[in-house]
Amino acid sequence: MKIKQVDRETKGHFKIEENGIEAGIMTYTWVGRNVFTIDHTEVKPEYKGRKFGNQLVMAAVDFAREKNVKISPICPFVKSIFEKTTEINDVLLMKRKIIAFAGSNSSKSINKNLVAYTLKAFAEYSVEFLDLNDFEMPIYSFDREQKDGVPEKALAFRKHMADSDAIICSLAEHNGNFSAALKNILDWCSRVDANIFAGKPMLLMTTSSGRFGGGGVMDIAKKSFKIFGASIAETFSLPYFNKSFIDNQIVDVALEAEHSQKIESFKKILQ
Ligand SMILES: Cc1cc2nc3c(=O)[nH]c(=O)nc-3n(C[C@H](O)[C@H](O)[C@H](O)COP(=O)(O)O)c2cc1C
Repeated sequence: MKIKQVDRETKGHFKIEENGIEAGIMTYTWVGRNVFTIDHTEVKPEYKGRKFGNQLVMAAVDFAREKNVKISPICPFVKSIFEKTTEINDVLLMKRKIIAFAGSNSSKSINKNLVAYTLKAFAEYSVEFLDLNDFEMPIYSFDREQKDGVPEKALAFRKHMADSDAIICSLAEHNGNFSAALKNILDWCSRVDANIFAGKPMLLMTTSSGRFGGGGVMDIAKKSFKIFGASIAETFSLPYFNKSFIDNQIVDVALEAEHSQKIESFKKILQ
């Protein structure tokens, strides 16, 4: 049994042979210089049960260790080997987790659109995009709290924040302030303690159809989100949403440049 590797600039493979005959193959693709994905692993039926697939994975692991690079497994078989074999997790690319939300419960939320657009730049992260409608609770009242305690949904919202590596959000402005939907969540969450955002780096955005792009709620959030444990790393406000965001992208050149620059600087902080 012999394993042969071909490594090209963008792609490569490991082939396993027995008596000069190909018994299986594992293909991979380079993603930048420091990571390769393992896309597919296949062992011919007549060689099944001989752990040839595992040997191909180990060849890739040895190669990654030698090159000091990481593996991002796409192939389900390789994923399962990584799950079962903790000793090889030193070469597994740990995807960092971003929690995202818009501070709006509107199904047509322009802030949701801005968050979705921003998340396109975070493809290398594992992303969870929350909908505030899934955290709708009765309006906070002291009496409700005394009677029933803090709702599970508030605890769940806090857990999402605490389990993330970073937070990306964009806030709707209602009369110069948070939407009632967000404020209610924050009020309930704060009854556990003020540290709702658990110190996670935050990209804080706002947008509205007006000329300040939600500047009023941005000013408020800059102060109160810090009290709520946010570490605000970057901020971005998009004015005149209806004119500056068309066909799912920022069309104003200067605003697009500012948005990209803020994302780059936020990503540097996350490294
Ligand atoms: C009750 C209410 C108050 C609003 N107040 C403001 C405001 O103070 N400033 C503003 O720019 N837009 C205001 N708007 C318009 C939009 O809701 C606002 O631009 C918001 O950021 C849109 O976000 P969304 O589509 O993500 O919900 C208000 C809308 C409503 C329904």
